[in-house]
Amino acid sequence: MKQNRKMLSANFATDGDSKIPTLLSVSDRSQEFLRRAKETGSKVRIVLELDGDGALSSSLEADPDMLGLAAAFELQLRAELIADGYNIRKVDFSKIHGVAGEDLEKLADAMEISDGARVLDLMCGYGAVSAHILERTEKERLKIELSMCDLHKVQLDRIPDAVRAMAADVTVGDARNLPYDDGVFDAVVIKMGLHEVPHIDQPLVFQNVFRVLKPGGRFVIWEVMPNTGEQQDAFTEQMQKKNELAGYESIVVDRYFTRGEQMPWLFEEAGFVDVKQVFEANFHQSTLGRLDSELGGDRHKLDELNAFVRRCTPASIRSEVDYLDEGDSISMKVPNRIFRATKPE
Ligand SMILES: C[S@@+](CC[C@H](N)C(=O)[O-])C[C@H]1O[C@@H](n2cnc3c(N)ncnc32)[C@H](O)[C@@H]1O
Repeated sequence: MKQNRKMLSANFATDGDSKIPTLLSVSDRSQEFLRRAKETGSKVRIVLELDGDGALSSSLEADPDMLGLAAAFELQLRAELIADGYNIRKVDFSKIHGVAGEDLEKLADAMEISDGARVLDLMCGYGAVSAHILERTEKERLKIELSMCDLHKVQLDRIPDAVRAMAADVTVGDARNLPYDDGVFDAVVIKMGLHEVPHIDQPLVFQNVFRVLKPGGRFVIWEVMPNTGEQQDAFTEQMQKKNELAGYESIVVDRYFTRGEQMPWLFEEAGFVDVKQVFEANFHQSTLGRLDSELGGDRHKLDELNAFVRRCTPASIRSEVDYLDEGDSISMKVPNRIFRATKPE
């Protein structure tokens, strides 16, 4: 699917009482509208107002030509006012994702980092992948320029000082609208990030990474990738329930766990070649493992999660995912895979 939609972000790196972090999804025609506004130097205000009596209204303020254009294009404003999730989610991914040091080695191997390389750790969170890459390149005496990018400043603020000091830049940015020039990176890596992006937007991530890579550059993804639609549904529903109980609104709404068979298509549609799965392991998801890290130690929430998982895991998939119900802990395995692809020379 070639999407011409774009995401525009505003205020993500700034604080201020009257500012609201904003992501604007713009269609083909609205991009044309914004382009014309810029060309003609016209100011456009889109207002969404909740009156004192609770009535919701919206209006567009612009010069008559721009108002006429908006009407001719039949533009609509579709808004989502939502509490974020990654503003409060502060977990140790190495524990909940069951990541072993040798798994990170496989990830770094796939990136084929050489001396002088420019590397992007995208959706980097608190920088566990970057820390590993820096440790490894230092050992191998390779000089690299490492960029770290994530949509949530709260996560970037968790990067250890030592890692931050070695990064070329630490940038707030959206994977669907990368704040980097074309053709600048030798390798881009996303670990456990793609599923944070809604299904409809995932092609935008691949298109953006393709754009910022140099010809011959590598794109490496580590993801949870269920094997079948039934596994995907059961795992997604379980995660949604956990995220709802943990109080993460946007994460409940946005997430999409891509099946393994969908992944090559996403790479190829964006223009990547040599798409390969280079590693597979099993991620052991356990409800009890989320008790302290995400459910605030609340046993009632754990009971609710377990009751939900019992109800929503079909009997037909239980043996293939090693479903194990031990009362207060229900566990199952879901494949984790590393895929790697190249931007053609
Ligand atoms: C599960 S964490 C993984 C972090 C890190 N890659 C790791 O494995 O330790 C997912 C990260 O994606 C970030 N994220 C979510 N949506 C994003 C977007 N549209 N663009 C960039 N980063 C995003 C979140 O803030 C979060 O830090």
